[in-house]
Amino acid sequence: MPECWTDPDTFDPDRFAPHRRENHSHRFAWVPFGGGVHKCIGMHFGTLEVKTILHEMLRTTRWTISHGYQARWDNTSLPVPADGLPVRLHPVDLPGKHQADPAKGLAAGVSYRLCK
Ligand code: HEM
Repeated sequence: MPECWTDPDTFDPDRFAPHRRENHSHRFAWVPFGGGVHKCIGMHFGTLEVKTILHEMLRTTRWTISHGYQARWDNTSLPVPADGLPVRLHPVDLPGKHQADPAKGLAAGVSYRLCK
C-alpha cells in the first residue's frame, strides 16, 4: 500500500515517528486492533502490556535467530509468522541479579517459538 506507507516492504520504525505518522495516513492504514465501531476496547491496555513484557524480555535476554533466517508471514487474518518465529533467548548477566545456573543449561540459552 504505497499510497499509505513509504516503501512498505522495508523495516522502517521511523514511519511511526511524530514527524511522519504514516499510521495516520488513512483511518484503516494501521489495524492491529481493528477499526470502526468494533475497534478493540483494550487497545491502550494491550499496548501497555506488550511494552511491559517486551521491555522486561529485552532488558534480561539477548535474542538471536539462525543465520540467514527469513521470516514467512501468514496473512490469512492479521499477519502472523507462519513458523511461529523461532528465536533463541540468552540470559543477560545483570548486576546484582541472581545469575543463570550453567548446570541447568539456562546460561546456554533457550529456544522458543515466540508466536505458537
Ligand atoms: C495486544 C493486545 C490486543 C490485540 C492485538 C487486540 C486486537 C483486537 C482486534 C483486532 C479486535 C477486533 C476489532 C474489530 O472487529 O474491528 C479486538 C476487539 C476487541 N478487543 Fe482486543 N486486542 C488486544 C487486547 C485486548 C484487551 C487487553 C482487551 C480487554 C481488556 C480487549 C478487548 C476487546 C473487545 C471487548 C473487543 C470487541 C470490541 C467490539 O466488538 O466492539 N482486547 N481486539
